[in-house]
Amino acid sequence: MKWGEHVVVCFIVLVCLCSYKQHVSSLDNGLLRQPPMGWLTWQRFRCVTDCQADPDTCISEKLIRTQAQLLVQGGYLAAGYEYIIIDDCWLNGTRAPDGSLQPDNKRFPSGIAALSDYVHSLGLKFGIYEDYGTETCAGYPGVLGHLVQDAKTFASWKVDYLKLDGCNADIKDYDTGYPAMEDALNATGYPIAFSCSWPAYQESAKMKPNYSAIAHTCNLWRNWDDIDDSWDSVYSILQWFGDNQDRLSPFHGPGHWNDPDMLVIGNFGLSPGQSRAQMALWSIMAAPLILSVDLRTISDWARDIILNKNLIAINQDPLGAMGRRILKLSGSVEVWSKPLQDDRVAFVALYPEPYGTPIHVSIKLSDLGLGRYQDYDFFESFYGDFLGRHHYTDTYSFTINPAGDVHAFYVESAVPEKRFRKKL
Ligand SMILES: *[C@@H]1O[C@H](CO)[C@@H](O)[C@H](O)[C@H]1NC(C)=O
Ligand SMILES: *[C@@H]1O[C@H](CO)[C@@H](O)[C@H](O)[C@H]1NC(C)=O
Ligand SMILES: *[C@@H]1O[C@H](CO)[C@@H](O)[C@H](O)[C@H]1NC(C)=O
Repeated sequence: MKWGEHVVVCFIVLVCLCSYKQHVSSLDNGLLRQPPMGWLTWQRFRCVTDCQADPDTCISEKLIRTQAQLLVQGGYLAAGYEYIIIDDCWLNGTRAPDGSLQPDNKRFPSGIAALSDYVHSLGLKFGIYEDYGTETCAGYPGVLGHLVQDAKTFASWKVDYLKLDGCNADIKDYDTGYPAMEDALNATGYPIAFSCSWPAYQESAKMKPNYSAIAHTCNLWRNWDDIDDSWDSVYSILQWFGDNQDRLSPFHGPGHWNDPDMLVIGNFGLSPGQSRAQMALWSIMAAPLILSVDLRTISDWARDIILNKNLIAINQDPLGAMGRRILKLSGSVEVWSKPLQDDRVAFVALYPEPYGTPIHVSIKLSDLGLGRYQDYDFFESFYGDFLGRHHYTDTYSFTINPAGDVHAFYVESAVPEKRFRKKL
């Protein structure tokens, strides 16, 4: 079938781009050689600032301390979720008399340096939010006019990760503004991972971001819409990344990552199947795995998905390849694929339609881009179960539940010496 051949050609091109991606000149601060993993306030806690009305969920040092403890106690840090990041709404509405940034002193009475020390004492890393413009998206002071001063403040607070948003600025200024902020961060001498919103605003404005310059400046960057707590939001972001993968994937790799935004697993919006889907697809995309969930109330099943070792290993694979959507089949089934080290390949097949019964899918191995070896061993990704050995001329068949569930699997060559037969 013509379509199948076409897909195989695309797949080969992907492999070539991946093996040459080290030629993309990129930020060289040594940070985030694997996609960052952590926890961020925004999606779940937004800009709740009234601690009288919402004492347990307002943006405050109490919230950060509590969630930081749970990141450790719940096994999230041990699984790799190491950054805890405060998004917007931590600031005082005005700068201090000397022009420096200061937190809201009611919600952060101990100050940011003390909070950062506490987070570090637990073995976690500390991240914070600012905005390139005159004001943050929620109206607090932005860094414009204070880049060097604010970078020094962040370094003095031992901030390990800065998310710099792009509200209230001229979009055209980002091309010089974000690099200027990175220069200021670098000049502090303190290693600060740099998360940029630069392309997200340019993409929404239908400008073509200079991803080469962005990868040279930022460790990760938001490309597209903010994620919300719904399957529609997760699915639309996924589709945007699939539709734009040819432009994005060459700039993706160790130290520099496209960012489709937070995991929303464990909140109000996703079913268990849709949660498995987000975890599997974000892993295939080698996306940052940044949780935004209340760890006090998360269900056991959501926690198990977030902590799945095999999915995390696929996400953190040292090649750092951005997975791609390689097939669209009938029933809106789509297949994504990501090359892993040791000649393994991870796949996710997604069935988004809400039509009741599970769907049966059969795909030729050649349409999965498999053919370099005679035989392949197939494993289910979540549990590592062996699913069978298939010759490269075979067809692989499976079933997926509807409404946004996935079948996630990985393959390795069944070479005689079985040198790859260890678990992920
Ligand atoms: C904000 O800063 C001003 C002046 O520095 C101070 O008087 C005020 O108490 C602060 N308010 C809060 C909520 O932090
Ligand atoms: C600053 O940039 C140089 C050159 O890219 C790099 O080697 C160094 O690690 C950076 N330092 C920090 C603190 O980011
Ligand atoms: C993109 O940025 C790079 C520097 O990183 C520069 O060499 C190149 O000319 C820029 N491309 C465009 C189209 O502006």
